[in-house]
Amino acid sequence: MGERINGGLRRVPTWALYILGMLPAPWLLWQGATGALGVEPIRALEHELGQWALWFLIAGLAVTPLRRFAGLNLLKFRRALGLIAFYYVFCHLLVWIVLDVQILGQVWADIAKRPYITIGMAAFVLLIPLALTSNNWSVRKLGPRWRTLHKAVYAAAVLGAMHFVMLVKGFQIEPLVYLGIILALLGLRMIPRKRRVAVRQTAG
Ligand code: HEM
Repeated sequence: MGERINGGLRRVPTWALYILGMLPAPWLLWQGATGALGVEPIRALEHELGQWALWFLIAGLAVTPLRRFAGLNLLKFRRALGLIAFYYVFCHLLVWIVLDVQILGQVWADIAKRPYITIGMAAFVLLIPLALTSNNWSVRKLGPRWRTLHKAVYAAAVLGAMHFVMLVKGFQIEPLVYLGIILALLGLRMIPRKRRVAVRQTAG
C-alpha cells in the first residue's frame, strides 16, 4: 500500500506543486481587487497569505516525520514546499509594506515597536538564507553545513507561529493549534532511531 502511494507520488512532477501551490496568491490578489474579500480586503489578504505561509512551513516540516513514522516519501517535494512557504511569507510582507503601511519610516517603526511584527520579521530574515540556498549548487557547495544551516527552519516556524499567537486579540485556539503542531513535528525528530542503533550495535 505504502509502496503504491510512494510510486504514485514519484510520478507527480514538482513543477505541478510549484504551480498549484503558488496560484492562491494571485487568486487572492484578484479577489481582493474585485471586492470578493469583504470590506477590509488588505487585512483579509494579509491574513490569508500568512495562513498559507504557515501551512507550507508545516507541510515542509512534516516531510521527515511522515517518512519515518508513516513510510510516506515526500522528500522530492520538500524543497518546493519550503520555497513556496518563503514565497507566501514574502507576499505577506509585501502586502503589509506596499498596501497596508505604505510609509517606509512607519515600516521600521512598526518592526521596532510591535513585538509580533519583530517576531514575524525575525522569522522572515531567518528564511532568507534558506531560500537562497535551496538549489543543487548550494547543497553541493555547502556540504554538511547545508543541513546545519537549514535547521534554522525550525526556529523560523516556531517564530512564525508565535507571531500569530501574539497578534490575535484575547484567547484564540487556532494559533495555539498551529504552534502545537509545529512543536509536535519538531518533537518527533527527537525520538531516537532505535532500529538503526540496534543495527549498528549488532554490526559493531
Ligand atoms: C514566517 C513568517 C510569518 C508567518 C508564518 C506569518 C503568519 C501570519 C498569520 C498566520 C497571520 C494571521 C492570519 C489570520 O489572522 O488568520 C499573520 C498576520 C499578520 N502578519 Fe504575519 N507571518 C509571518 C511574517 C510576518 C512579517 C515578516 C510581517 C511584517 C513585518 C508580518 C505582519 C503581519 C501582520 C501585519 C498581520 C495582520 C495583523 C492584524 O490582524 O492586524 N508577518 N501572519
